[in-house]
Amino acid sequence: MRIGLLTGGGDCPGLNAAIRAVVKQGMGEYGHTIIGFRNGWKGVVDGDIIPLGRQDIRNVLPVGGTLLGTARFHPHASDGGIDAVLATVEAERLDAMICIGGDGTLHAASKVADAGVNIVAIPKTIDNDVEGTDLSIGFHTAVNIATEAIDRVHTTAESHNRVMVVEVMGRHAGWIAVNAGIAGGAEVVLAPEDPFDMDAIEKFLRHRHRAHANFSIVVVAEGAVPREGGSMEFTQELGKYGEIIAGSIGERVSAEIARRTGFDTRLTVLGHVQRGGEPTPTDRILGSRFGVAAVDAISRGESKVMTALRGESVVLVPLDEIAGKVKHVPAELLRVAHALS
Ligand code: F6P
Repeated sequence: MRIGLLTGGGDCPGLNAAIRAVVKQGMGEYGHTIIGFRNGWKGVVDGDIIPLGRQDIRNVLPVGGTLLGTARFHPHASDGGIDAVLATVEAERLDAMICIGGDGTLHAASKVADAGVNIVAIPKTIDNDVEGTDLSIGFHTAVNIATEAIDRVHTTAESHNRVMVVEVMGRHAGWIAVNAGIAGGAEVVLAPEDPFDMDAIEKFLRHRHRAHANFSIVVVAEGAVPREGGSMEFTQELGKYGEIIAGSIGERVSAEIARRTGFDTRLTVLGHVQRGGEPTPTDRILGSRFGVAAVDAISRGESKVMTALRGESVVLVPLDEIAGKVKHVPAELLRVAHALS
């Protein structure tokens, strides 16, 4: 078989592990030819290919980013995009494609599959908000990075008697904020799933600083929002793909805490630091398992499915069941974050 391979959307650690697994399993077990596309769906539309062999995947396992490059580009959203994808599939004589991506890339994969291309998808996003899988590639590394940052900020908060606000990624779901918040022992965790009340935060911080400790860590997911009708108004400017262009919630929360309490307050925005560097062993293993499972599925003739982790097992879920959905942090996990604050 000739199999096209791409990584789309935001990059994350662990992508190279998945690419390596697809090439090794595809070539080794089945004798397939793997054709990589540069920069996600954009490369498919432009016919921008990198033939992949064993030499291309040497030593990539511990390396962050993606050796294929990536882009936020959705063929179904551009004029003639799907036709251009089909033309490339025909020109490269592809029997199937493996697409590694988050919600946008998976949605595009579903559209391209509807146009007649055999597709198996692999979920990746540090936000961990892809429906249908317990874990997505990149999330574990991001939580590690955010937890380490919170630990570091902790000691300086205590030394200076400050409130430290740490803004982490998570546009639609608060997985990183809640997990790193629990692991780092944050006093307050704000996630999109649970709109916050600034009055309650002020009261809590005043009480803590008076009665317990004169410092606090507040972890804010970038998609956290104040409760409607509450005492803090908030607007953000979002880009074409829902990315935040202006007005970070961390800035607002930090300024509001300082204004209301008079406490010495500092903001740390972790940003793309969470998406870079070495993947953890968990992400390397997850990427490897998903890569092997995707090749096995394609070779069996499966299509329009996504590899997913359910408990201890890698399974396949229909793309139609998950496309366009957001996996939110469950109430139980939010409760733990709040209970330990
Ligand atoms: O989708 C993953 C993510 O890391 C989000 O948490 C974040 O809002 C976004 O990507 C940033 O995107 P970009 O790299 O395009 O600025």
